[in-house]
Amino acid sequence: MKIAVIGASGFIGENIVNEALSKGHEVVGIFRRNSIPAQNNLTLKKLTIFDEADFEAAIKDCDVIVSAYNPGYYHVAQAERFLDGYKVIFNMAKKLNKHVIAVIGATTLIQYDGELVKDSLVFPKPWIKALEGTDRVFETYKGDTSLKVTFVSPAAEVFDGPLTKQYVYGKDHLIYDSLERSRISVKDLAHAIILECEHPKFVNSRFTIAYQN
Ligand SMILES: NC(=O)c1ccc[n+]([C@@H]2O[C@H](COP(=O)([O-])OP(=O)(O)OC[C@H]3O[C@@H](n4cnc5c(N)ncnc54)[C@H](OP(=O)(O)O)[C@@H]3O)[C@@H](O)[C@H]2O)c1
Repeated sequence: MKIAVIGASGFIGENIVNEALSKGHEVVGIFRRNSIPAQNNLTLKKLTIFDEADFEAAIKDCDVIVSAYNPGYYHVAQAERFLDGYKVIFNMAKKLNKHVIAVIGATTLIQYDGELVKDSLVFPKPWIKALEGTDRVFETYKGDTSLKVTFVSPAAEVFDGPLTKQYVYGKDHLIYDSLERSRISVKDLAHAIILECEHPKFVNSRFTIAYQN
């Protein structure tokens, strides 16, 4: 497949690029400022998604778009910038009829007692504020049936760790392990995202992954 990755130079995006390349896919890696090393089958595009002509040209031949876009957790107008960015991404996806896999936060997941993660004590308050943007993107677009989108809410903690493939899937509920932690390595997260590119199972819905043991 040919996979576009928005945010290819980011923490999550770079791991998605590497996972896709390791499975023999072609990748178009989109970043704004900080490049990543060149590799076979990787076309790097330094652009801002807000330059819509450049963005369209970069993704028009791709089979699927993965977004690990993040304007910066501490951008002065973070929530608005997330919404502005996803407006561009989703409108382009509609125009080109592409499936988008969008990595958002865990704050809109639900606890086992029905409480939203953002209303519980899982994250410190500044983190909840920093994740407000993806929450608003999810609330705005989750019911938009004119769009082909899979939202991905990782576990509460995404850490730089190995590929294990030992994770479990959920839809809207936060998953805990036996030590009451909610965790996923960024490589396992990338693995699940590329599987969703290859064999979409959550179109117009959302999944989460985490370790159970
Ligand atoms: N980090 C975590 O632990 C975590 C956990 C759960 C969910 N998430 C979610 O996952 C997503 C990605 O997070 P991250 O931590 O990987 O972010 P990140 O490391 O800050 O990376 C963001 C990426 O977006 C790119 N970007 C920003 N503005 C752009 C623009 N206008 N046009 C093109 N590219 C642009 C950046 O490019 P440059 O670097 O070149 O500027 C960078 O590649 C976010 O929605 C975040 O909420 C993150």
